[in-house]
Amino acid sequence: MANNVSLLNLSIIVRMANNSEAHNCWVIAVANNKGGVGKTTSTVAIGSILRSMGHRVLLCDLDPQGNLTTHLAGSNLEVSGHMGDVLAGSVPITEAILTYEPGKDASGALSKAPEAAQLDFVPASYEMNMFESGLQKKNGYATLLRTALRPVRPHYDFILLDTPPSLQTYTIVSLVAADGYLIPAEPEKFSYDGVKAVMEAAENVKDRLNPGLLLLGIFFTCYNADIRNVTHKLVVEQIEKNYGAESILPSVRKDAALVKAQVNAQTIQHFAPDSRAAVDYHELTAQLLTRLVQEHVD
Ligand SMILES: Nc1ncnc2c1ncn2[C@@H]1O[C@H](COP(=O)(O)OP(=O)(O)OP(=O)(O)O)[C@@H](O)[C@H]1O
Ligand SMILES: [Mg+2]
Repeated sequence: MANNVSLLNLSIIVRMANNSEAHNCWVIAVANNKGGVGKTTSTVAIGSILRSMGHRVLLCDLDPQGNLTTHLAGSNLEVSGHMGDVLAGSVPITEAILTYEPGKDASGALSKAPEAAQLDFVPASYEMNMFESGLQKKNGYATLLRTALRPVRPHYDFILLDTPPSLQTYTIVSLVAADGYLIPAEPEKFSYDGVKAVMEAAENVKDRLNPGLLLLGIFFTCYNADIRNVTHKLVVEQIEKNYGAESILPSVRKDAALVKAQVNAQTIQHFAPDSRAAVDYHELTAQLLTRLVQEHVD
């Protein structure tokens, strides 16, 4: 209970901070070119927790694999517009936004879920693979997402961008559009290399196109605290040494509830609110909010 109250208070402070001109809306990219490290899982979990706290949240699926889309809408979704259309300029983002409603059944019956459990998202499609080279040829392609998000920024407190496992087009446009970025990583041998590659790409974007881009944190997913995890310790030490202890956010423990939630096309918040993963993502989100307040104060 005490934890919930402090989260709520923090949330109010961030809302107040958000009301200033500096940050009406935080656009946050979740990136790591390594596959399967928890980018999509974390984007949905953090987004749904922020939403449950009363923030207005939009999730954008920038990955042609469309895992975030499937996570929230199942696999039979027919979309009228996806992020590729939005970037190509053929569909305005406002027309591509869908809403995840946990109470809605397959027949589309009206949801009884409270508004705070609903989550806006813009879907992806496998077609986005075919859009990539065309987008790169567009004038000033790197800023396409930043421009596309402009009309919706005033309507959201947070826009979270789920990126694909590469440092190509969709990740670059996300880093250019973002105010800050998060790096999920697995506590394993080569994860430092993945973190380093994202940091280098972000530094490059920062130098050329987005000087305000902030690293909001690196965190570990699939953490197994039950076994003595020497590799995790080594990776954490390496990251602390190179990027500072303050760059690390709390880890998320390995939890099968996350996989089950995805299979059921539900957020972990809705599917298993008391699970280890839900508890860990709450802690992670709380620390993220603390950082955002700090950034605002600084
Ligand atoms: N903490 C966790 N505990 C158990 N399973 C997890 C955890 N986090 C993620 N997973 C599972 O790991 C798999 C990969 O996660 P996810 O899809 O979020 O990674 P990703 O980085 O988005 O992958 P990709 O690079 O392919 O987009 C999924 O099946 C997900 O359910
Ligand atoms: Mg993913």
